[in-house]
Amino acid sequence: MAWRRQFQQFLLSLNVVLHVSYAQAPTPYATPTGLASDITSYLEASSSSEAGLAKTLMFANIDVDNSANGTVIAAQSYSNPNYAYNWVRDASLTMDVVQSLYAAATSDAARDNYANILFAYAGARTAEQNDPDLQTGLGEPKFNLNNTVFTGPWGRPQNDGPATSATTLMQFATAYMNNGGSQDTVNDQIYQAPVKADLLFVASNWSSPSFDIWEEESSNHFYNRLVSHRALVLGAAFATKMGDDSTSSTLSSAASDVANSLSVFWDADLGIIKYEDGPVLNNKNSYQDIAVILGVIHGYNDDGVFSYSNDQVLSTAYHLAISFLDAYPIAANQHTDSSGASLGIPIGRYPEDIYTGTGTAENGGNPWFLCTAAMAELFYRAASDLQSAGQLTVSNTSLLFWTYFSPGANLSEDTYSSDSDGFKGAIAALQGWGDAFIRLIQYHGGDGGHLSEEYDRNSGVMVGAADLTWSYASVITAAFARAEQSGDDSYVQDLANLGF
Ligand SMILES: *[C@@H]1O[C@H](CO)[C@@H](O)[C@H](O)[C@H]1NC(C)=O
Ligand SMILES: *[C@@H]1O[C@H](CO)[C@@H](O)[C@H](O)[C@H]1NC(C)=O
Ligand SMILES: *[C@@H]1O[C@H](CO)[C@@H](O)[C@H](O)[C@H]1NC(C)=O
Ligand SMILES: *[C@@H]1O[C@H](CO)[C@@H](O)[C@H](O)[C@H]1NC(C)=O
Ligand SMILES: *[C@@H]1O[C@H](CO)[C@@H](O)[C@H](O)[C@H]1NC(C)=O
Repeated sequence: MAWRRQFQQFLLSLNVVLHVSYAQAPTPYATPTGLASDITSYLEASSSSEAGLAKTLMFANIDVDNSANGTVIAAQSYSNPNYAYNWVRDASLTMDVVQSLYAAATSDAARDNYANILFAYAGARTAEQNDPDLQTGLGEPKFNLNNTVFTGPWGRPQNDGPATSATTLMQFATAYMNNGGSQDTVNDQIYQAPVKADLLFVASNWSSPSFDIWEEESSNHFYNRLVSHRALVLGAAFATKMGDDSTSSTLSSAASDVANSLSVFWDADLGIIKYEDGPVLNNKNSYQDIAVILGVIHGYNDDGVFSYSNDQVLSTAYHLAISFLDAYPIAANQHTDSSGASLGIPIGRYPEDIYTGTGTAENGGNPWFLCTAAMAELFYRAASDLQSAGQLTVSNTSLLFWTYFSPGANLSEDTYSSDSDGFKGAIAALQGWGDAFIRLIQYHGGDGGHLSEEYDRNSGVMVGAADLTWSYASVITAAFARAEQSGDDSYVQDLANLGF
């Protein structure tokens, strides 16, 4: 593969339009099938499992001592690297887990606890919006722990934050009212601010260039577009529910505009959804980034716009996954754990990454836990999506994905009904690979459930910020997706009630 990438880079540098035929997938890294009992145990809803420990460790990073109420520290790492800030993105994704737990909890004590945290979060987000020192409006990405804005040099704006924050809070508000909570309270403490302000910001600013989720470069990012789309669609319905029809129509019209803008990201020659629309930046010649997969996970809205099982999404996942085979030495020889069970392909942010977790170095980028969990989550959700559809259509766009990840099902360009062997083989492959990615997290994760940001590309040992909050949130949402796929209907509720 390396030669091909170099060749592509060479041609791209000459600005030549490339028509590479990706006729053949390489030999599969592994051929796992079905959900595995070791991963069921690893993620079970108990205090000593990874899921239970991840929950405890994630909550330990909410409202840390001497921080403002409703804030999330990205990691309790105060130097090398210093992640002791409240990032809008990380907080919204963490609070998204809290709102899922709130919605599922049946214990009153658990529910009250989560609701207090979420109302405090809404208050913290409102305070951020009103900070007098914002440099880029509501796209300001980073706040101190006392929740005053960070004013030093930084990649700003990062316009995904208003969208994901609004989505999280609208979901909480909806569950709160379903539980009998007052609409007036929601209007005062959630809708008027911060949600409406963030949604109007998204409606008027979604097409402006923004820094990406890794805070490295300003462009038009697929991730931002998809999370904006979801926020605007949910926002239009939510505004109507709040009796605000004029805001609803503003949001709904912006949502259509965003949806109509998305096709530019697909590159048929590369077979991927490009993570940004624009010239090559930051030496990312491949245009590949797990941000596309994260965009689908955080931004898909059950409306067919870039679903988990979308052919272009699957093709993107395939090309991205195999790009890491060349990038990471641990991919060369660690294909199974000590019991012989399959480990997934190590997944990082993008193949050209040079961030080591504390600085930069040539060939220094590592696989990340949250990226690996995102790939697992995509596979579980794709399986559930296909089961809901009741059939699988393999197209020339998705064929390589299926050939590589599901070789045992002998799939070709055809439609497979849910009772066919091909369909069943495909689902089993998605399950097996989802578990293999989670098993890789288990393999490289620490004792006591601890997960840092990254695991070393050469040795596999944990590196980067310790106890990254987003690592825990991503493992928990992957566990939710797996429970849905396994038919464990009480899983989220059990995890939500755990400890109360
Ligand atoms: C944080 O905010 C919540 C929700 O408003 C409130 O219940 C709680 O008492 C606050 N905690 C502190 C320490 O102020
Ligand atoms: C908030 O924290 C920052 C960073 O530690 C500090 O510079 C600032 O003075 C604090 N502001 C207030 C109002 O406490
Ligand atoms: C859109 O962004 C610009 C620049 O930050 C800001 O001035 C404007 O107020 C934003 N729009 C809304 C509705 O917040
Ligand atoms: C893939 O299929 C589409 C739709 O059937 C077709 O238009 C396109 O030419 C095909 N591409 C290749 C490379 O075969
Ligand atoms: C796929 O092909 C192999 C070899 O021809 C065969 O053994 C296997 O049963 C087939 N699997 C399915 C799901 O059709």
